[in-house]
Amino acid sequence: MRRVLRCVYPLCVFLVAFLTTYIYLHLSTNGLQRPKPRYMVPTKDPVELDLAMDAEVDIEEIDIPSYDMDITLMKAVDKLVRRESTDLKPVNLKKFRYMLTPGHKCDFRERTTNFSRVLVLVKSAPDHQRLRRWLRLLMNDTIGILSNNVKMFFLLGYSRELNSEIRSESEKYDDIIQKNFIDSYRNLTYKTQMAYEWASMYCSSADFVLFQDDDFFANIKNVVEFLSEQLTPEELFTGHVVEAGSTVIRDRASKWFVSNIAFSNNLFPAYFPGGSYIASSQIVERLSFAFPFVSNIPVDDVYIGLVSSKLGITMKHSHRFYFSDCQNWSHCLACKAFL
Ligand SMILES: *[C@@H]1O[C@H](CO)[C@@H](O)[C@H](O)[C@H]1NC(C)=O
Ligand SMILES: *[C@@H]1O[C@H](CO)[C@@H](O)[C@H](O)[C@H]1NC(C)=O
Ligand SMILES: *[C@@H]1O[C@H](CO)[C@@H](O)[C@H](O)[C@H]1NC(C)=O
Ligand SMILES: *[C@@H]1O[C@H](CO)[C@@H](O)[C@H](O)[C@H]1NC(C)=O
Repeated sequence: MRRVLRCVYPLCVFLVAFLTTYIYLHLSTNGLQRPKPRYMVPTKDPVELDLAMDAEVDIEEIDIPSYDMDITLMKAVDKLVRRESTDLKPVNLKKFRYMLTPGHKCDFRERTTNFSRVLVLVKSAPDHQRLRRWLRLLMNDTIGILSNNVKMFFLLGYSRELNSEIRSESEKYDDIIQKNFIDSYRNLTYKTQMAYEWASMYCSSADFVLFQDDDFFANIKNVVEFLSEQLTPEELFTGHVVEAGSTVIRDRASKWFVSNIAFSNNLFPAYFPGGSYIASSQIVERLSFAFPFVSNIPVDDVYIGLVSSKLGITMKHSHRFYFSDCQNWSHCLACKAFL
């Protein structure tokens, strides 16, 4: 009897173990233990993630209740920065396809001085060929020994009328970044998102990104000197700041009109009102990783202000960005060069 039991006992243990494993696996694949959906920063070219490529989509206007700091979002972005996944649900994954990206022009390996590596991204309109020509010339004339520390690219959307011209311009200069959303004033948020995404995905060797409109011009020598004086360069986010609390424009005729549905607060967060500003590459990365979790509003400057406020990133005012003209050229970081 005892001998029989000694044989049966291990068999029973085995059977029980087998059954529990089986039941567990069965339940987990049948929904009771369904894993939570997780989001990770795409490592592939966003072309392959294109969700709305063919669809006729416009900037979605949905409620953004507040621009308070968002601890959940901050934690999620911390994880994404460490290349971990997050279970925070993305609400804004609309992606467009790149139509033009520059070849391998964004590596700074050849830099000849010890100064910072600066990526200059210029929001430009398809029909502003003349401004782009001027900017290339001016940059070439003023950049001097910094030419391997500074790279300038233009950001464009799609224009049916000018597309072949844009293509040949890109073949000639290889400095155009373009996605297939229609280039228009109220689609600028797409353009700005493209800028941040491209910088963090394809130009991560830059130390700083200088964002500017195509009617602005940066005094690169001053900029580079200014950057070298920073004590906490990774926290740099500076430009001309409009303090939090300006009134949202509800007049449909205005080009800055924002509907009640798009943004229900009556006051805006702090923001850089276009023109030009500088961000460290760490801040550019954090913002671009947060975009999928913050719905779009059609005024891109305010959108960046909104995302920054949610991440607790402070915009620092600098009086060295001029909106009027370039009379104080020797003192400015950037100024409005073309009226
Ligand atoms: C260049 O930068 C490195 C690292 O930041 C520093 O150690 C070195 O002293 C710098 N050299 C010059 C000539 O400034
Ligand atoms: C840029 O400047 C250099 C001299 O500083 C000149 O030789 C070159 O032709 C210029 N290139 C363009 C495209 O203007
Ligand atoms: C914005 O871009 C989308 C995608 O190309 C387009 O369908 C929409 O009409 C554009 N909106 C405006 C206001 O141009
Ligand atoms: C021009 O720059 C100087 C410093 O170099 C500054 O003191 C002055 O206020 C600036 N002028 C204007 C009009 O901003």
